[in-house]
Amino acid sequence: MDSIVNQANLQFAEDVLCGLSAEDKFLLSRYFYDTEGDHLFQAIMASPEYYLTDCEHEIFEQQGMEIAKTISAAGPFELEELGSGDGLKTQLILDALCATGADFIYRPVDISANSLQLLSNRLSNGRPWLRIDPINGDYMQVLASAQIQDPASDGPRKVIMFLGSNLGNYQKTQALAFLQLIRGTMRQNDALLIGLDLQKEETVIRAAYNDAGGHTRDFNLNLLTRINRELGADFDLSAFEHAPEYDPVSGAARSFLKSKSAQTVYISALDKDFHFATGEKIFMEISQKYNRPLIEKLAKGSGFRVGHEYFDSRNYFTDQVWLPK
Ligand SMILES: C[S@@+](CC[C@H](N)C(=O)[O-])C[C@H]1O[C@@H](n2cnc3c(N)ncnc32)[C@H](O)[C@@H]1O
Repeated sequence: MDSIVNQANLQFAEDVLCGLSAEDKFLLSRYFYDTEGDHLFQAIMASPEYYLTDCEHEIFEQQGMEIAKTISAAGPFELEELGSGDGLKTQLILDALCATGADFIYRPVDISANSLQLLSNRLSNGRPWLRIDPINGDYMQVLASAQIQDPASDGPRKVIMFLGSNLGNYQKTQALAFLQLIRGTMRQNDALLIGLDLQKEETVIRAAYNDAGGHTRDFNLNLLTRINRELGADFDLSAFEHAPEYDPVSGAARSFLKSKSAQTVYISALDKDFHFATGEKIFMEISQKYNRPLIEKLAKGSGFRVGHEYFDSRNYFTDQVWLPK
């Protein structure tokens, strides 16, 4: 590989090589979140079509106190949030926890240093009581490491938060493995607060991933810009189109970038050409939508039981407290 690849983006280069060499081309969604990607995701969340954020916000606004009481009932704890993002919704939970007199330290974990900085600034402002210990890194690695306590130790109780239906960004088998990894770090008194997007009318879901403002399109294309910048590629963004799909049978919403013509892209960090046929797609991200049987199956299969469920007024979204079985 070319000298353009330093240690920091070696993994990125390897993942791009793997994805674009596959028979069905793909890129990994964790690379969406550079500084521009963070901004674009905030724009998506603010778009009228992206109901997920509003629904989870409503749940925390209206039922936050109940959730806070549920997760803090068993005593002092560490609150670890995986993929914490901008903290807009989390602040409602933190404020509810403060109002219930809960004794906790908050540990947001995010791969984006930029997001973590924005979140720390937002949350620290006007909350002198908040003990916050941000962790910049891949939550897979953080979970697997000692940064989040070992289940065999007698450290404090732990509540893990995984909001925004981020679990849906994993295929079903990966989601199960990820939940098992989380469960493996937990002890009997711990809890998982998880946000899950529910299956609903197709038009509502399709619109959420194809907003009229074009933010989701730009968010996907931005990953090609990142490859151009960090790996010295020559992707022509105007030669690809955003092509989201939704399968109501499986509940999977998938985002693709589709090549508008036959073309070749050169990536100098890999010193390699990649060929795209007309209409060939790059799979970018899955956003799985859930129903009760699927939720029960995931919880059971990963060693949890669904302890408490909270829904928004339209029953579009659910936040749930899962407890070790
Ligand atoms: C879709 S956003 C959701 C943010 C927030 N949880 C919410 O509900 O609004 C995903 C966040 O997870 C972070 N992220 C994605 N993959 C990650 C990983 N493997 N490790 C740590 N953070 C990750 C991104 O940087 C981003 O801030």
